[in-house]
Amino acid sequence: MLSVTQLEKRIIWISLAFAVVLLGLSALAINLFHVGLPTCLTDIKPFQKGELITHSPTHYELHYVARMWKFEPEDVTVPAGSTVDIYLSAADVTHGLIMLGTNLNLMAVPGVVNYARVKFDKPRVYQLLCHEFCGTGHDRMAAELHVVDAATFAARPSPPPAPEPTHPGYKLLDANLCTTCHSIDGQPGIGPTFKGLYGRTEKLRDGSTVAVNDAFIREKILHPDAKIVAGRFEQEMPKTDLSSEEIEEIIEYIQTLK
Ligand code: CUA
Repeated sequence: MLSVTQLEKRIIWISLAFAVVLLGLSALAINLFHVGLPTCLTDIKPFQKGELITHSPTHYELHYVARMWKFEPEDVTVPAGSTVDIYLSAADVTHGLIMLGTNLNLMAVPGVVNYARVKFDKPRVYQLLCHEFCGTGHDRMAAELHVVDAATFAARPSPPPAPEPTHPGYKLLDANLCTTCHSIDGQPGIGPTFKGLYGRTEKLRDGSTVAVNDAFIREKILHPDAKIVAGRFEQEMPKTDLSSEEIEEIIEYIQTLK
């Protein structure tokens, strides 16, 4: 027969009281302050784009975004002796990242940010590869990380950062994550690049053709599955809530991308 002492009883009651308080506070946070669990971590800005952030001359934070079929950034240089905190997420499907010659091995999962810290002691070029089959371009999905000595690092020419377009149409495309799948500079992606798109004639899946004009872009945004361009793309376009004024801005911007 199990016997419970006075002290044990007291501990059980205190634990129950704590649990009730905790549940109460959680309910309060959810209902009153609208604290929710994130459904998709990559909604968090810092992890939506690949970049190298400098914390100190020997400490870097490197955000990789894996997407069909490349890692962003594709080419990174850090000085020897650096500690690099690597964060990895995916923009479309599950990818994997291994860095040959290190024990870095992370999965790139949409909505998840994975992390590892690597210290690079000596100058060397590291190859990064995708190790999860992710579609037809999987075997081309690679990147490089260059570890160079301090003098070379200091002397390297820093490329001027490309200014972000200021057109309101671009801001809408960016805010609605359209630029995740459609590049504006001709880079291949999940969807067609916007560069040179306007005015082109596209072949549809049913064999007919369509001119990419205002009407087509408007229809494509409002009813993505009405006219599907013949099979190059692995994923259908999702629906977005854009007003007709916003769609006009977007069309105007796409027209400028000759
Ligand atoms: Cu990405 Cu395989």
